[in-house]
Amino acid sequence: MNSQTAYFPPFTVDFDLQAGIMLNPDRSKSTRASTMIPYYRDRAAIEALAADGDPVHYEVFEKNIPTEEGHIMICISKLLPGKIGDEFFMTKGHYHQRIATAETYLCLSGEGFMLMKTPEGECRAESFRPGRMVYVPPYWAHRSINTGKTPLITFCNYPAHAALNYGDILTEGFPKLIVDSAQGPALVERGS
Ligand SMILES: [Fe+2]
Repeated sequence: MNSQTAYFPPFTVDFDLQAGIMLNPDRSKSTRASTMIPYYRDRAAIEALAADGDPVHYEVFEKNIPTEEGHIMICISKLLPGKIGDEFFMTKGHYHQRIATAETYLCLSGEGFMLMKTPEGECRAESFRPGRMVYVPPYWAHRSINTGKTPLITFCNYPAHAALNYGDILTEGFPKLIVDSAQGPALVERGS
């Protein structure tokens, strides 16, 4: 056995794939509107939502898996539908602290985009639809965006020692946004 990875017993996880639910998560984390105030272009709109009951924006459900190299973290992300001004509801987004680690997101329900950027500033969006997986390569910060009318539910896997880095992307911001337009969701420059 690898001396760096401790013994750990096998276990199972049950999902309702239709509903996009992890049936026996060990923990969940809810992010509310008030936490999202720095992230949207229309600050007044997100502040108004935070003041109006501060509803949940998104939830993540996880299993207790050791955060050490060799393990794989598994989670369900549930991002609610809605808009802040013309921007669709989104997650904060993050790099991984161990930046050379990838992640997969399999869309179980809903529709939207994964917006990604490199530290050098390249920015790409890939679309989510049920049954489609987005591969987030090493080095790319990533944020989910829900452009539909129902929750965007994704099943995520990443190296358990990756650790999440929210600070750098909060400072940098993503150079592009997904906004509602007459032609539907549109990828635009942040300053436009
Ligand atoms: Fe990630």
